[in-house]
Amino acid sequence: MPSKSGLSKAFAAAFVVLTVSVICATVTMVILYQVQMKGINPTPRPTAPNTAEPPPPVLRLPRSLIPDHYDLVLQPQLYTRIIHEVNVTSPNQTLVFNGTSTVHFRCVQKTSSIFMHSRDLEVFGPVLNDTDTKKSMRSKVKVPDEESGFLELELDQNLEVGGNYSLRLDFRGQISQNLDALFLSEYQEKPTEGEDSGTDRCLAATNLQPTDARRLFPCFDEPDMKATFNVKIIHRRDTTALFNTKKTVSNLENEDWKYTCFETTPKMSTYLFAFTVSEFTSEASHTTGKRVTIRTFARPEATEAKHTSYASQITPKILEFYERRFGIDYQLGELDQIALPDLYPAAMENWGLVTYQEGLLLYEEGVSSLLHKEDVAGIIAHELAHQWFGNLVTMKWWNNVWLNEGFATYMSHFAVDAVEPMFRMKETSIMKNLHAAFEEDALASSHPLIPPRDDIHTSDEIIGLFDSISYNKGSLMLRMLADVVGESVFNEGINNYLEKFKFSNTDQNDLWSSIETVRRNQYGLSVEQLMTPWVSQSGFPVVTINTTNGEVFQKQFLYNNTAESRLSWNVPIWVMSYISEPSLVWLEATLETVAKEEFIAKDGEWILANVNSTGYYRVNYNLENWQLLLKVLETNRHLIPLMNRGQLIDDAFNLARAKLIDVTLALNSTLFLRNEREFLPWESAVTNLHYFVLMFDRSEVYGPMQEYLRNQVEGLYNFYRNYTNNSTVPEDHSEQHNQVNAIWMACSNGLPECVEMAKMKFAEWMQPNGTNNIHPNLRSVIYCQAVAAGGKAEWEFAWDQYLSSNVTSEKDQLREALSCTRKTWLLNRYLEYTLDLDKIRLMDVASTIDSIASNPAGQALAWNFIRAHWDYIKEGDTPFLIEGVTSRFSTQFELDELERFAADYDLGSADGAAQRALEQTRVNIEWVKDNKDVVLQWFEAQTAAGNKY
Ligand SMILES: *[C@@H]1O[C@H](CO)[C@@H](O)[C@H](O)[C@H]1NC(C)=O
Ligand SMILES: *[C@@H]1O[C@H](CO)[C@@H](O)[C@H](O)[C@H]1NC(C)=O
Ligand SMILES: *[C@@H]1O[C@H](CO)[C@@H](O)[C@H](O)[C@H]1NC(C)=O
Ligand SMILES: *[C@@H]1O[C@H](CO)[C@@H](O)[C@H](O)[C@H]1NC(C)=O
Ligand SMILES: *[C@@H]1O[C@H](CO)[C@@H](O)[C@H](O)[C@H]1NC(C)=O
Repeated sequence: MPSKSGLSKAFAAAFVVLTVSVICATVTMVILYQVQMKGINPTPRPTAPNTAEPPPPVLRLPRSLIPDHYDLVLQPQLYTRIIHEVNVTSPNQTLVFNGTSTVHFRCVQKTSSIFMHSRDLEVFGPVLNDTDTKKSMRSKVKVPDEESGFLELELDQNLEVGGNYSLRLDFRGQISQNLDALFLSEYQEKPTEGEDSGTDRCLAATNLQPTDARRLFPCFDEPDMKATFNVKIIHRRDTTALFNTKKTVSNLENEDWKYTCFETTPKMSTYLFAFTVSEFTSEASHTTGKRVTIRTFARPEATEAKHTSYASQITPKILEFYERRFGIDYQLGELDQIALPDLYPAAMENWGLVTYQEGLLLYEEGVSSLLHKEDVAGIIAHELAHQWFGNLVTMKWWNNVWLNEGFATYMSHFAVDAVEPMFRMKETSIMKNLHAAFEEDALASSHPLIPPRDDIHTSDEIIGLFDSISYNKGSLMLRMLADVVGESVFNEGINNYLEKFKFSNTDQNDLWSSIETVRRNQYGLSVEQLMTPWVSQSGFPVVTINTTNGEVFQKQFLYNNTAESRLSWNVPIWVMSYISEPSLVWLEATLETVAKEEFIAKDGEWILANVNSTGYYRVNYNLENWQLLLKVLETNRHLIPLMNRGQLIDDAFNLARAKLIDVTLALNSTLFLRNEREFLPWESAVTNLHYFVLMFDRSEVYGPMQEYLRNQVEGLYNFYRNYTNNSTVPEDHSEQHNQVNAIWMACSNGLPECVEMAKMKFAEWMQPNGTNNIHPNLRSVIYCQAVAAGGKAEWEFAWDQYLSSNVTSEKDQLREALSCTRKTWLLNRYLEYTLDLDKIRLMDVASTIDSIASNPAGQALAWNFIRAHWDYIKEGDTPFLIEGVTSRFSTQFELDELERFAADYDLGSADGAAQRALEQTRVNIEWVKDNKDVVLQWFEAQTAAGNKY
C-alpha cells in the first residue's frame, strides 16, 4: 500500500512552530526541537503554484555494494503524554529522533565512494571498517544532496571486490507531522470522571513504503537490496515499542528511558521495516498452535471495549488459510496488527507489524455496520496475503508493484470467502475490481500494468503506480491466467514460485515460468506469450461478435473511439448459448476479422461470450444478439450467469460511452431491473447510471431521469420496506447491500416515502434525550438523506455527534453525511474545516473534500477550494481527489480551467490522474453534446403517462 512523496516540508508551516530547548540536556540541536501549539488555525499559506521544481532526481543506487545486515539503535524522543501545566500555554513536546546504524555489506565492484540513501537526516561520525582485516578506513560524509536523497561517503582507498565492510553512522531527524516516514499521531483518551474533555496522547509510528526508509536511517533503500535487521529501540519509560519481530528483552535504561531489543528479522526489503512507540494495549488471538503469537493493538479504551475482538478472531483463520493455500508457513513468531488513529494509506503490510487506519481494523458490535465487517475482513486478508506476496517474495523494482498488489487483491477474495462464506463477497469484489480497472484503462492516458523499468525512477512516479491498474487489473490478470491454465495448476505454480524465490526478488518472467513448468494443457501459446500483451500494453480490447456469420474481431477499447490503436491481445473467450455448455475459443492477437463456428447463433437463439467475465475485455454483438440478450434478462434472466448479468449492463453502458452502440440500447438494459432483486445486477446498474447522474445532474435531463429511476427502484425499495421501517436488516449479506442500495437509489431520486423515512428516523435521534435507533447498516444513507433534506439544525447535530463519537467507523459515516447538505454556506464552512487538524484529520482531508465534490451543490466549491489550498491538500491522496473533483467536468470552460491547473500547479504523484482527467473531460464534452437530446427523449418516453410501471 502506498505512502506518498512527502518531499515537501510545506505542511510543517501549517503548524505554528516555536523553537524551545527545554527538553534534553544536550541543546546543540536547538532548531530541531519543536513545540506544537494547539488550537491555532493553520496560518494562511501562499497559494501560488510552485513552478520552480528542479528536474526529478534519479533514485537508483549503483550495484557495487550489497548490504547483508543492519544493527540499528533508534531513539524517538517524543512524549506520549503532553503535560498541560496550569500556567503553561503550550504543551511540551519534542519531535526529534536519533540513532546509530551499522550496516554490513559486500563489495562486488571496485569503488572509491559509498552511496546510500538518506533524506532529511543529519548524518555524522562515520566509522568504516574492513571486517575481513579488522582494519578501519578513513571516510568522510560529503555535503548531502538533499534533492537526490543520496548520502555519499568519500574514501581514501578503494573498496575491493569480494571485501566485507561495515559502516557505522550516527544520525538525527525529525518525527514527521505529515503521516510519512516516522510520524506523529494523536488521539484523546476518554475523559475520566469529572473532566470535560479527554487528555491528549501521542504516539510515533512508521510508514516507509515506498521510499521513506531513507528518512528514518541511512540505508540501501531499494526493494531488491534485502538485508536482515537487529534493532534496539530506546523509548520513554511508560511506553511500549513494537517492531517487525518479537521482543527479546526490554528493560529500564535509566530513570527516563527504557530499551527494547528484538529478534533478528528475516532477509527483507527496507520499505517493510516498521516500529511504533505508544501506550497502546492489545488483545491476543486464540491460536491452536503455539508457533505464531497474534496480537491486535489499539487505544486502551478500544481494546478494553473489545473493538479489537473481530480482528483478533478472524486473523488466525486468515493466516492459517494462506499457510495451507501457499504451502509455506508464515515466517515470523509473532504477528502484530495495530489500529492507528492516523495513517495514510489505509493499511500497510509491514512484515510482522501490520498498521491499519483505526476505522478499518476496529469493529464495534451494534455500532459499526455489519457491512463494515466486510471491509475489516477484506483489508486484513489483503495485508496478510502480502506477508507472502511482497514480504517473502518481493518485486525486483517498483515497476512490478502489481506482483505485490495484484496478488494481495486476488488472494484476499479467497481468504475472505473461506473465513466468512456468509459474506458471499467473491463475485461482488471481483465485479468491483473489474469495473474500477476498466474505467481507468479505457483512457489512452492509462499505463501498462508493467511499465518499462526505466520509466519509474522518482518517488512520485513510484507512488503513482499504487493505482487501480496495479491493484485491480493486476488481480484480474491473475484471475484470467488461473482460468486459462486451470485453478489447480495455477495454485501449484504459485506455490513453487513462492518456494523458489522466498527471501529474494522477482519480475513477471519468474512468475510465468513457475506456472509454465507445471502446466498440463497447451494452447500453443506459452504463458509468457499469452500474458505479455496483457501486461506490457496499456488498455484492453473490445471483442465484437456477429452471431449471424460468426465473424469476430478485436480492437482496443477507448472512450475516445476516434483515437488510433494498433494494439491486439491473445483473447481467451468462453462462449455459451441457450443450448450449449461453455467452451473456450481463442482469438489470436490479430486485428483481422476471423470467422468462428462457435459464434454463430443457431435457430435465432442468443450467444453469450466471456462467460463469468473471466476475461479482461468487453464484448459487443450485432444488434439482434443484444436484443435477444436483453430480452432474456427481462424474461428469463436465470439463464444468464450472475456475473454476466452485471457485466452485460456494464458493457452496454460503456460501449455507449465509447459510442460503439446506441445509448438507448444501454438504457434499455436497465428496463429489467424493475423485477430484479439480486444484488449484482443492481450494483452494476447503479455504478453505471452514476455516469449519467454526473453528466446530467446539473441539467434539465435530471428531472425525467430521476422519475424513471424512482419507478425502477420502487419495487426493490418496497421489497425491503418492512425491514427498513423497523430498522432491521435481512440475514444475507448481499441482501443487506441491496437494501442499502435500494434506499440510496430511492431517496436520492426523491421517492417520497424514502425521504420521509430518513427524516423521521433522524428526527427521533435529534429529540432531547433521543437515542439513535437506526440500524448501523442504514446509518450512512439515512444520515446523508436527512442532512440533505434538512438545514442548519440537522447539520449542527450531525457535526456534534461527529465530534463526540469515539468509534471511527461511526465518525466516518457522519463525516460523509455532513457533505450531503444542499446549503452552500454550510458546504463552504465545512470545506474550511478541512484545514483545521482539530476538526478533520490530515488522512481524512482528501476524502472529505471528495465527498463534498460529489454533491452537485458542492462540486464547484470544492474545485475552487483545492486550487486555493493546494499546498496543504497536495499532501493527501491527491490522485483520488483529482479524479473525484473533476468527475462531472463536461464543458469547455471546465476543460480550460483543468488545463490551466495541470500546467501551473505542482501536481506531484497526481500528475497521471490529472492527465486522465483531461482526457476524460474531453470525452465527456463530446459525449454530452452527442447524447443529451437522445437521453432526455428516452427518459421522457419512459415516464410518459402510458409507460408508468
Ligand atoms: C500559576 O497558576 C496558579 C493557579 O492558577 C497561580 O496561583 C500561580 O500564581 C501561577 N504562577 C505563575 C508563575 O503564573
Ligand atoms: C515543560 O516546560 C517547562 C518550561 O517551559 C519546564 O519547566 C517543564 O519542566 C516542562 N515539563 C516537562 C514535563 O517537560
Ligand atoms: C540520541 O541523542 C542523545 C542526545 O544527544 C544521546 O544521549 C543518545 O545516546 C542518542 N541515542 C542514540 C541511539 O544514538
Ligand atoms: C481522440 O483522439 C484523437 C486522436 O488521438 C484526437 O485527435 C481527439 O482530439 C480525441 N478526442 C477527444 C474527445 O479526446
Ligand atoms: C453480420 O453478418 C451479416 C451476414 O454476413 C451481415 O449482413 C451483417 O451486416 C453483419 N452485422 C454487423 C453488425 O456487422
